[in-house]
Amino acid sequence: MCGVFGYVGDPVDLGDRLLSGLQTLEYRGYDSWGIALARDQAIAVDKRIGRIAGVSTALSGSDIGFGHTRWATHGGVTEPNAHPHLDCSGRLAIVHNGIIENHRDLRAELLARGHAFRSATDSEVVAHLLEEQVGQGRNLASAVANVFARLQGLNAIVAMDVVSRQLVATKHVSPLVAGSVDRGAYIASDALALRPHLDQVVYLEDGQLALMDRAGLRVVDRATLQWIEPARVTLDRNLDDARLGDHPHFMAKEMAEQPAVLERLVIHQRPQIEAMAEAVGSTPTTLIGCGTALNAALTGRYLFARIAGAGVDVVAASEFASFAPLLRPDGMVLALSQSGETVDVLEAVKAAESYGARLGAIVNTPHSSLDRLVDLRVLLGAGPEQCVLATKSYTAKVATLLLLAHAVRGSYAEGAALVVRAAEALARMLEPGSVAEIQQLANRIHSSDHLFVIGRGLAYPSALEAALKIKEVSYIHAEGFASGELKHGVIALVSDGTPCLVYAPADETRADVLSGAAELKSRGAFIVGIGPEPDPIFDIHLAVPETGDASPIVNALPAQLLGYHTALLRGNDPDRPRNLAKSVTVK
Ligand code: F6R
Repeated sequence: MCGVFGYVGDPVDLGDRLLSGLQTLEYRGYDSWGIALARDQAIAVDKRIGRIAGVSTALSGSDIGFGHTRWATHGGVTEPNAHPHLDCSGRLAIVHNGIIENHRDLRAELLARGHAFRSATDSEVVAHLLEEQVGQGRNLASAVANVFARLQGLNAIVAMDVVSRQLVATKHVSPLVAGSVDRGAYIASDALALRPHLDQVVYLEDGQLALMDRAGLRVVDRATLQWIEPARVTLDRNLDDARLGDHPHFMAKEMAEQPAVLERLVIHQRPQIEAMAEAVGSTPTTLIGCGTALNAALTGRYLFARIAGAGVDVVAASEFASFAPLLRPDGMVLALSQSGETVDVLEAVKAAESYGARLGAIVNTPHSSLDRLVDLRVLLGAGPEQCVLATKSYTAKVATLLLLAHAVRGSYAEGAALVVRAAEALARMLEPGSVAEIQQLANRIHSSDHLFVIGRGLAYPSALEAALKIKEVSYIHAEGFASGELKHGVIALVSDGTPCLVYAPADETRADVLSGAAELKSRGAFIVGIGPEPDPIFDIHLAVPETGDASPIVNALPAQLLGYHTALLRGNDPDRPRNLAKSVTVK
């Protein structure tokens, strides 16, 4: 997690520039932030707890500096624990993303040699280790290479030296992207922050080291320090899709974008989906993902069974290690991810590679680590998703899986028609009248402590996703269940007035789900039915248009809207829920 943004070059109003770069990256972590820049031969630092939005800094002009937004792992959320961290001499500063697994041993060693620590973080060891290397006469590049070799774990670091006026960065798994400008360079943990400044960027690979100064960016091999000509990627500098526009929150913007995302997907992604269908159709396939992406994968399992008559395995990426040895040599692992940087997904894909599996991805972020790792990909083309909650990337993943299942069966056009129908349905459901019904429901449930969601068959993963969406943004305890499992224990949780969302699509599961709803209602539950048809058992009916196998797409929106409006009523920030970060780059 954590966001990094740095600059070296002609003197600019760097304090403000660092803050605005970090603000773009705040989705990566937002418990605290800090910036450091050179003032002559000293480093000036400004660190604070809380969000960056609306703050200003007294730090202004400089030719070199960097900043960091933090998602705490080691050490509480305090100003001293916010990055950047300085060495004892005040010549060097570092920012870090990841977890240094052997930090205790390194800290003990450094303390024994007389270093003074100012924070409780794992990261600060890097500053002091560098101090020793530079003190022994090494230049910053070789100092960083030597220090990085001592760190265990998945890490990215950027170091600044006010004497040589250089930034040096390197990484293992955690992402870093950099680029040159006239007489200078930028670095960040996501290209989004670089779009206002650069046309072309370099995605740093593991084992590479980026050296940035007024000569621009150079990339060297970390082991040999030999110069490398890195691959350069041209950035799409259309910034509109990253801006909030008239929307009150990114979550509102991203929910509203769903119809357009799906309509684009059906047309533009067809060649990629058909290429992937050829591989998936002839290969035992395992879908992996985390959180919402895992819920999309579970939906995909039902879609494959229903549409293509094919079985696919689904495994949480974080649990994949137990199953990787079972992969068949002709097997395929298809990873689902919005960011393409989720570390559990990347580790699982690497494990699959080591067992010889074919690697594919359904991923939203072009050039992300996942995109670069796999042989076959479908890029969702949903545009940047900046709210921490996945909304448009979820419906785009489900649509892709539906199209993929149809492509395997040889009926892409049929799948495309369904997705377009779902997109049109979403557009109608986003109209003010429909949204007002959900706002009323939010008023009814926002002070509840618990909420349950049930579904069966294709709607079961929808229930899991609905519960996840509601709980992560409203902080109401919400659980999704297969409705058939109710009688096996779950029903003990239901009491008078407990809100229960019931997915009742117009398919073969409807009668059984309604029986489940009746059992809940007779224990006092307040039943919210979500489906095309009303039923007397429902206390409230949220109508969703009938869309056949595309029902998981339309089923997602009422829960997204309910989570959003409930969060607002409870005074929560929907874009930055507590304890979460958008890009989960630590284990
Ligand atoms: C929930 C949510 C998370 C992500 C999960 C995986 O709204 O956003 O559960 O789905 O962290 O992230 P990606 O898709 O980037 O791999």
